[in-house]
Amino acid sequence: ETRLHVIDQPSVDHPAIAEAAALLQAGSVVAFPTETVYGLGADCTSAAAVARIYVAKNRPNDNPVIVHVAERDQLSNFCIDTDERVSILAKAFWPGPLTLILKAKPHLRDTVCRGLDTVGIRVPAHPTAFALLKKSGLGLAAPSANISGKPSPTKAKHVWNDLNGRIPMILDGGPCRVGIESTVLDLSQPQAAVLRPGWITGAQLDEVLGSPVTREADLKQAHRSPGTRYRHYSPDAALFVLAPDVGDAAFNTLQHLILKQKGTKLGYIGTRRHLVTDAPSTHFYGDDGVDSLIHDLYMNLRQMDEEGVSHILIDGCGEVGHGRSLMDRLRRAATVVLVSDQDVTAFCLKL
Ligand code: TXA
Ligand code: MG
Repeated sequence: ETRLHVIDQPSVDHPAIAEAAALLQAGSVVAFPTETVYGLGADCTSAAAVARIYVAKNRPNDNPVIVHVAERDQLSNFCIDTDERVSILAKAFWPGPLTLILKAKPHLRDTVCRGLDTVGIRVPAHPTAFALLKKSGLGLAAPSANISGKPSPTKAKHVWNDLNGRIPMILDGGPCRVGIESTVLDLSQPQAAVLRPGWITGAQLDEVLGSPVTREADLKQAHRSPGTRYRHYSPDAALFVLAPDVGDAAFNTLQHLILKQKGTKLGYIGTRRHLVTDAPSTHFYGDDGVDSLIHDLYMNLRQMDEEGVSHILIDGCGEVGHGRSLMDRLRRAATVVLVSDQDVTAFCLKL
């Protein structure tokens, strides 16, 4: 049985944080909050400890994990940290949701790198994560604390639902502020490249670095980030993503076709409050739009699974700023992405 500790006042003196740090020093795993999503941490220098992460979350063996440190000056323990771009980005965005891919120190090759010669590293912005990193004195290897393939956990309860009985402890620091994973930026090559869009946008990186970074879409099939090969973030329900060009009429046709099938339970996430009458499970979002959709996305997908929803319709958004990151996650989670009214019509004919 997994112990769950609520951390109201995080500090290195907190007894539960001390207990968690001791577990980590002994080679075990602990789930902890970050500002993006919950992570499942282990000593990044111990192959046995890191292996426990893969077993607990059933993670594919070739998918590397990122390393979390309390402060920027610990970077040189884990990577070749001579790149001036690191200082510039660290100053602008750390602690925060930016992961940098750098050349790894050789002692990490058998732990987090999984065959690559690089390591992803970041300084998370969460007081509980900071206290845990400080108290343990470790660099913590930590992927998201979900069963692989499921939506990432943004509350301790989500970690519990996925990993209860599989890990010794969860630190509950409340709901995550951001709600999607960090931006992953590859600095191991001369041209900086976004491997996974996140809360820090390409435009922000361009501005701080003074030159344009390559966007993930431009990398085509390069798949430099192994994790992007897998279907991800998915609920059990079939997930239909509707691009902004899909109009209300096409939406209605699709909605009614799904409802006509036997045994369906429809879920809806989007802005069409006036159109949706029959969906037993709905999450409308309004003018605060994309950011609140991002904040609640994984929570809503998990909740709909709990409610036994069979089909989810979700409105996508324009691919700018945070919208780009949201659409990245929706595409990976989707059963199908419908980009236009014609697309919806063609799809409905097959249903
Ligand atoms: O916000 C986050 O980044 C969260 C919190 C817990 O920090 N962590 C997270 O970890 O999302 P994970 O393992 O679920 O996703 C890390 C991504 C994966 O797609 C992985 O393939 C990629 O980063 N990655 C890790 N190391 C890499 C490397 N050396 N080169 C390329 N991609 C790497
Ligand atoms: Mg993950």
